[in-house]
Amino acid sequence: MQLPETVEVEPGLDVQDLADRFEIFEALHTDLEIATPMSEADLEVVVDVVAISDGDEVVDLACGSGVLLRSLARRRAITGLGIDLSPWMIDRAARADTPAGAPLRWVLGDAKEQVSELGAFDVVACLGASWVWLGAPGTVRTLTEHTRPGGRIVFGDMLRRSGIKPAQAAATPSADEVIDHMSSLGVDHVETVVTSDASWDAYIGETLEAYRRWKAANVDGHRFDDDVAEWVEAQHRDRALLEWTVIVGRRR
Ligand SMILES: C[S@@+](CC[C@H](N)C(=O)[O-])C[C@H]1O[C@@H](n2cnc3c(N)ncnc32)[C@H](O)[C@@H]1O
Repeated sequence: MQLPETVEVEPGLDVQDLADRFEIFEALHTDLEIATPMSEADLEVVVDVVAISDGDEVVDLACGSGVLLRSLARRRAITGLGIDLSPWMIDRAARADTPAGAPLRWVLGDAKEQVSELGAFDVVACLGASWVWLGAPGTVRTLTEHTRPGGRIVFGDMLRRSGIKPAQAAATPSADEVIDHMSSLGVDHVETVVTSDASWDAYIGETLEAYRRWKAANVDGHRFDDDVAEWVEAQHRDRALLEWTVIVGRRR
């Protein structure tokens, strides 16, 4: 896979190896801008809540196709850095039309490694990749450590629905538990955006459509059929217990 020259690649990474590793995720998200159970309208609500200002420096960890940075850059003159480990995703991010003049940089790299080299930003986001820091607490801590006082953290994950016991949901935290944890780290809660079941259903439908397109364009595309069936089953299982939640906080 040949990435655009504008993509910075973390030294030592084997791009082809990563392309193979992330191919199934790409097969499910071909041409999808948002790779979570969030509609474009949901994302715009999140962007409203972040209340971006001209000159803000923003980093998006596990940025996927870069949709959050592009949406923020359409609102204000930001400087953005997107980091993702999938060559497919970062390729799309780097090739997408950016709002005129927006200085957005794209790095193919492990967000955990990359962020440890970075200082503080005005907005630090991670939507849908908490496993990188072994769950919500570690992710929120990392986001906070790289946020300037007064800056915002934007954390998105599947969190436990109310009424579901921790043991039923493999101890996944609830939004209230994450907000308490944020507070203990010096982050005030600004807003929680919970997407509807309809957004999750639409996401599952869009990934199946994306996979159909992938199969039509790849002679051996069907080799992921069993994995995709399992993935969809897992989405339905999770949907009963969890809800896609984005929490925005402001660092004191
Ligand atoms: C559920 S998707 C979310 C993408 C994007 N944030 C969005 O909202 O559309 C998770 C992303 O994490 C990326 N990823 C997985 N492991 C990673 C890592 N160690 N470092 C950086 N990105 C990673 C995947 O390539 C994928 O793009």
